[in-house]
Amino acid sequence: MGGSASVQSRRAHFPLNKVKAIYPGSFDPMTNGHLDLIARGSRVFDHLVVAVLNNSAKHPLFSVPERVEMLTESVAGLGNVSVATFEGLLVDFARQQQAQAVMRGIRAISDYEYELQMALMNQRLAPELETVFLMPAAKYSFVSSRLVKEVFQLGGSVEGLVPQLVIERLKKRVASS
Ligand code: PNS
Repeated sequence: MGGSASVQSRRAHFPLNKVKAIYPGSFDPMTNGHLDLIARGSRVFDHLVVAVLNNSAKHPLFSVPERVEMLTESVAGLGNVSVATFEGLLVDFARQQQAQAVMRGIRAISDYEYELQMALMNQRLAPELETVFLMPAAKYSFVSSRLVKEVFQLGGSVEGLVPQLVIERLKKRVASS
């Protein structure tokens, strides 16, 4: 009883009590696991902003505009989901967007340590921002952008792991390299 009395709800301060969340990532390229999480997030939050990190230091396979295009096409059916890009600190982008939450996916225990570090650092930088973890469907628990790229580049099938539009882009990218 004693301790809980000092805990204040910040919910009342949010505009119209609506919760906007940012789903940040590299999305190089997006996978069906990402899409599964976006669909879940669109049911949990009032608005979800899928935010592609613009970081040239990462040497991505796809440019930021290409990744944004693929995501935008894939989420077109979800009315409360938008796609944006950001640079610099995620917490600054979240504040600029007036978001209350960051959504991240956890596929397995191996993701947890990295995600916990980021969530706690973001909590330190922006105490008002909550990180919310969602789990993708179990059938996507092994799917990562890195493995999709590796398997595809070595001639393996990634059918069912990424949307068809991503497979087409992968084909073009590999053919032109
Ligand atoms: O899909 P990824 O590569 O796992 O996403 C990582 C991402 C983009 C969420 C993370 O690198 C990030 O937020 N970068 C922005 C810079 C920043 O805020 N760094 C401190 C985070 S603790």
